[in-house]
Amino acid sequence: MTAFVRNQWYVAAYGSEIGPELFARTILGEPIVFYRTADGVVVALADRCVHRRYPLSEGRLDADTIVCGYHGFTYDSTGTCVFVPGQTRVPRTARVSSYPVVEQDSFVWVWIGDREKADAAPIPRAPWLADPDYTTVCGMEPLAARYELLVDNLLDLSHETYLHGGYIGTPEVAATPITTEVDEDNAIIRVSRRMADAECPPFYAKSTGIEGRITRWQDIEYHPPCLYLLHSRVAPAGVLPEADGSDPHGFHVEVVYAITPETEHSTHDFWAVARDFALEDEGVSEFLRESNRTVVLQDVTALDILERVIQTEPEGYQELSINIDAGGLAARRILKRMATA
Ligand code: FES
Repeated sequence: MTAFVRNQWYVAAYGSEIGPELFARTILGEPIVFYRTADGVVVALADRCVHRRYPLSEGRLDADTIVCGYHGFTYDSTGTCVFVPGQTRVPRTARVSSYPVVEQDSFVWVWIGDREKADAAPIPRAPWLADPDYTTVCGMEPLAARYELLVDNLLDLSHETYLHGGYIGTPEVAATPITTEVDEDNAIIRVSRRMADAECPPFYAKSTGIEGRITRWQDIEYHPPCLYLLHSRVAPAGVLPEADGSDPHGFHVEVVYAITPETEHSTHDFWAVARDFALEDEGVSEFLRESNRTVVLQDVTALDILERVIQTEPEGYQELSINIDAGGLAARRILKRMATA
């Protein structure tokens, strides 16, 4: 198992999940309580009272302060205790850790690591999720498996043919070779699979209205440790973008995953599907929401099984990797390097 990669930004929630009430989520084994202040700013504090460790998320908000639900220690939005019961002097050490937070592209990112090293500039972008030229459906499914299994799963889409047949998988996905590029300097892994003449799976046939065979591109960009982008293009077979790069007959779907470890053996599996067609069509949104959630749950079921197998069988099993695993193996190597650093 790869150790957690600290000193990194992780998606903790969708911005829409956090309002003026207490919201608890564990990230990389750290219990965190979130809320939104009256000014709309997201606050993230350690979810343990310094007095007797009672979770602050079990308390209540009083204006922008949290009142512990056990004996009333009260913390401001920086984590500093501003009131204790039965005495006027608040102990100097009475504070809980606060976490740097950035809200961007509909996500709430939280920095896990040394506070002074937090720099928002390198947070990878997923601009489609907050772009009015796209319509997005999204969700989050809890995964009872280590995050590396989800990384492996998403970097090798040949499994679509077998695990997701009838939704997004067709024979051509597994049959088409991939190209893999590793940008070592920027720690980005790119895996592409371009199918010139493929069956159109129901996911795209029903949402785009294309009848017959398609040109289907899958271009993955993984920004370890957390953000995974799948740029998906479908068009009637033989229809390519114009020489100037415009693509009036192509349908574009940006699939975004945020892979956030919860504990060593569980993961928050955030998923979003943004499209540049049928923007106002609620029927298409509902279809894509339900279809993608079904696909994600198929992965969750398989990865939960795999986690149980890994935990119960003796260590030392020698996996056999093939060409389709190039992206996943590169990801493992980079994650290990990042964790060590
Ligand atoms: Fe929070 Fe006692 S545990 S005030």
